[in-house]
Amino acid sequence: MFEAATGDDMSSETLDNVVEELNECFAIPGRIAFHEAAGGLIVAEIGNQQATARIALQGAQVLGWTPKDQQPVIWESPAAIYTAGKSVRGGVPVCWPWFGPHATESDFPAHGFARNLDWEVVQTQQLPDDTTTLSLRLPQTDETRRWWPHASELLLLVNVGERLQIDLLTRNTGSEIFTVTQALHTYFAISDVREVSVLGLEDQPYIDKVDGGARRVQSGPVTFDGETDRIYLDQGCKVEIDDPGLQRRICISRDGSHSTVVWNPWTEKSAAMADMGPDAYLGMLCVEATNAADDAVSIAPGDEHRLQVLYWLESL
Ligand code: BG6
Repeated sequence: MFEAATGDDMSSETLDNVVEELNECFAIPGRIAFHEAAGGLIVAEIGNQQATARIALQGAQVLGWTPKDQQPVIWESPAAIYTAGKSVRGGVPVCWPWFGPHATESDFPAHGFARNLDWEVVQTQQLPDDTTTLSLRLPQTDETRRWWPHASELLLLVNVGERLQIDLLTRNTGSEIFTVTQALHTYFAISDVREVSVLGLEDQPYIDKVDGGARRVQSGPVTFDGETDRIYLDQGCKVEIDDPGLQRRICISRDGSHSTVVWNPWTEKSAAMADMGPDAYLGMLCVEATNAADDAVSIAPGDEHRLQVLYWLESL
């Protein structure tokens, strides 16, 4: 295992050494290598016969995934800011151990702290089916214990191929039960949010955060003509984004999740975000596999919870 400290506190020489050591321990020639990216972040670049992907060690954040001969499936903001301690706008931020604002402490970081901190590399593997796997662990430190005093282990496993699989594993290593809310907060790349529709959430109840948390029921596919911020309390069903502009369907299957967040900030909120900009909202849509609101998960001592997503493309 190897812990990669990044950020302002590290000289460029130290950063070079960290990257070199990561490559010595974990690079797989022609498949996975570690590089320094902007802002001193360290990024694992994966490429195999089926796809390419980029994963930042900060936040264990998948920043991109592009299956062979396709356009990127994961969106990264054209105005993304790479800096230590702040999640990059786009990719797959890991929200843990709470989703949204903390229930009682308003000064605790929104969407938890896992997305802002450096994770350590546990393992890389090239599998016989020519997919490539990177496993990461979030270290517990005095800083994390201040926000989250529970003895626990958090692991993220990414498998890159024609399909992208991400597993987020929370283990209770202590002696008391605890409860988490969480999300794989995926930003999908789409042709135009006004033209796409989300299928699979028909007739599901949802909490409408744009309307003060009103509870409603989805009628037909989800389409977009304004700011959308909803928590669907679903049956863990398969969800699809139909994108006629790119003549493709993004398919999402899940395990360990009975809620889905659908988010697009639309014009004003997009313009107000320095790392997004005025028109960026048109090309992205977040469909997040979550355990949020009524779908919080409690984990008993010795148990673990696995939140898993699998993404793939189909032609339209
Ligand atoms: C979504 C939330 O999951 O994340 C939204 O439902 C929130 O309410 C959005 O605005 C982005 O959050 P952040 O903290 O990354 O700007």
